[in-house]
Amino acid sequence: MCGIIGYVGKEPAAPILLESLKRLEYRGYDSAGITVLNSTLETYKTVGKIADLESILPAEIKANVGIGHTRWATHGRPETRNAHPHVSSGVSVVHNGIIENYLELKEKLTELGYVFESDTDTEVIAHLLHHNMNNGTPSCDLLAAMHKTVRDLEGSYAIAALCCNEPDRVVFARKDSPLVIGLGETGNYAASDVTAFLKHTKNVVFVSDHEVGYILPNAIRIYDPEGKLLEKSPETIEWDLEAAEKSGYDHFMLKEIHEQPTSIQNTFAGKLMELEGTVRMNELYLNPEQIKHLRRATIVACGTSWNAGILGKYLFEKLAGIHTDIETASEFRYGNPVLCGEELTIAITQSGETADTLAAVRSSKSYGCRTVAITNVVGSTITRESDSIVYTRAGPEIGVAATKTFTAQLITLYMLAIHMGRTRGVITADEAKDLIVNLKRLPGQIQRILNRKEKIKECAQQFADKRDYFFIGRYLNYPVALEGALKLKEISYIHAEGYAAGELKHGPLALITEETPVVAIATKGHTYDKILSNIKEVKARNAVVIAVANEDDKEIEKYADMVLRIPASHEMTSPVLSSVVLQLLAYYTALAKDCSIDKPRNLAKSVTVE
Ligand code: F6R
Repeated sequence: MCGIIGYVGKEPAAPILLESLKRLEYRGYDSAGITVLNSTLETYKTVGKIADLESILPAEIKANVGIGHTRWATHGRPETRNAHPHVSSGVSVVHNGIIENYLELKEKLTELGYVFESDTDTEVIAHLLHHNMNNGTPSCDLLAAMHKTVRDLEGSYAIAALCCNEPDRVVFARKDSPLVIGLGETGNYAASDVTAFLKHTKNVVFVSDHEVGYILPNAIRIYDPEGKLLEKSPETIEWDLEAAEKSGYDHFMLKEIHEQPTSIQNTFAGKLMELEGTVRMNELYLNPEQIKHLRRATIVACGTSWNAGILGKYLFEKLAGIHTDIETASEFRYGNPVLCGEELTIAITQSGETADTLAAVRSSKSYGCRTVAITNVVGSTITRESDSIVYTRAGPEIGVAATKTFTAQLITLYMLAIHMGRTRGVITADEAKDLIVNLKRLPGQIQRILNRKEKIKECAQQFADKRDYFFIGRYLNYPVALEGALKLKEISYIHAEGYAAGELKHGPLALITEETPVVAIATKGHTYDKILSNIKEVKARNAVVIAVANEDDKEIEKYADMVLRIPASHEMTSPVLSSVVLQLLAYYTALAKDCSIDKPRNLAKSVTVE
């Protein structure tokens, strides 16, 4: 997730761009840059925050048109050469999104003589625009080149571009990444979201997917993909600045829960090869022979990432036939692990900075194990310490409670397991295809859950005064139960226990009374009948049972007091959907208790101490 801004008007562009970028900084903050146009393009960019960019700008920049970018790295480390804008002989581009076919495009452009200066996917857009402008006779303008360029792009993008020969306009395009136009008194804006220009105007026009257009100082034009001019009426935004930063949601956590249909699409962008039944995992520096001969994998992680790791263990064992251990990083580092060089350690950490997880990776390396890091933060410490890095690409997460980074970790683990399973011949192409189809269904299925969140809210309100909660699940739903309990305790301060449902009778059943709601993850699968028995056990002790079940499951109503539904889904992928339900349950419980949801007491987003 990055933030982009374009401005054309009567005011000096540089201060407006800087101010807008500061507003967008929550979308990414590892590097930033601007290009302004004053007969020639002047580009300034740097690693760091917007304040760092400000410090390298000349005292006065004479220009009334420009584009800017604040970056959250996806392709290429946070370095100045990877910061946007990217320039190709008189064309400058900022971009938010992921160009999935950038490697193919890069190859073609290199053959045409373009020299790449960065590791980013965005640079191909700059060169393609330049190529498309100059390839025909006569050459075409930037708008026509943008129409041609987006036809070649696969993936997601919100683009703003400048050309040195077109001094009064910023050209834009959008697909699957947000882009909104602001209509100001003294100029117009194109930005990733309204916060960027809300101080100047509340009149906006939303750009839809596949549309291309431009802003002038006193007009805007938007076209459909065929080049037909569209009539779009402006809307008025009622949000104040604080609400706008959260896209109108009350909390970052709620916003991040709602981002999941998009964030998981970013996680698997360009990787799922449905026709072949394979997953492209170019980041994994393990050749097929090494994957085939893997004897064991050990997953190390903490907290929510550890919960994701338990699902990872089940997936690696089922889909790839690899014996997998899951270890709490803080225990692993002081244990006596029996490891050898034929083994793989997979560290899961959204921040990439968790001290215990880093120590576990170092310890594994000392035994000669190969290491893979699954992280959300490009350039974080773990990326410098691991052999392979798989980025989850969920975008920055501000709420302390992990939500979209958790589901992104799950998706990454599915992809790794399918990739290794295919390489080892444990699953067939058809089995992999079936899973890939079901992974691709998840964004739509999550959206369905989000659309009907009122029921979850009512349930949360009903039990918000309880002191204790239990969450139970079996097999793939066991980590879901653990994560549901962790979410509830960390933001609502209700004591919650996550349990493997079969373990209840070995002790915790003694705690079950009519005062302990039990959330049972009872989605369809081969342990369904078993969880029904566990539900009966707790019902017999008068517990109120809240079941998470599939939409097409009528039977569950006989046993549970309340049912929270997920769409009918594949047994393997339903944990992602149930997790979203439990995130919302925790959120609305904390809301009913008026807790500090985005910054729960005693907790930090990144735990860099032991
Ligand atoms: C809970 C949560 C924490 C983290 C844990 C590990 O919502 O976010 O439990 O999962 O502190 O953090 P990372 O994943 O950054 O290593």
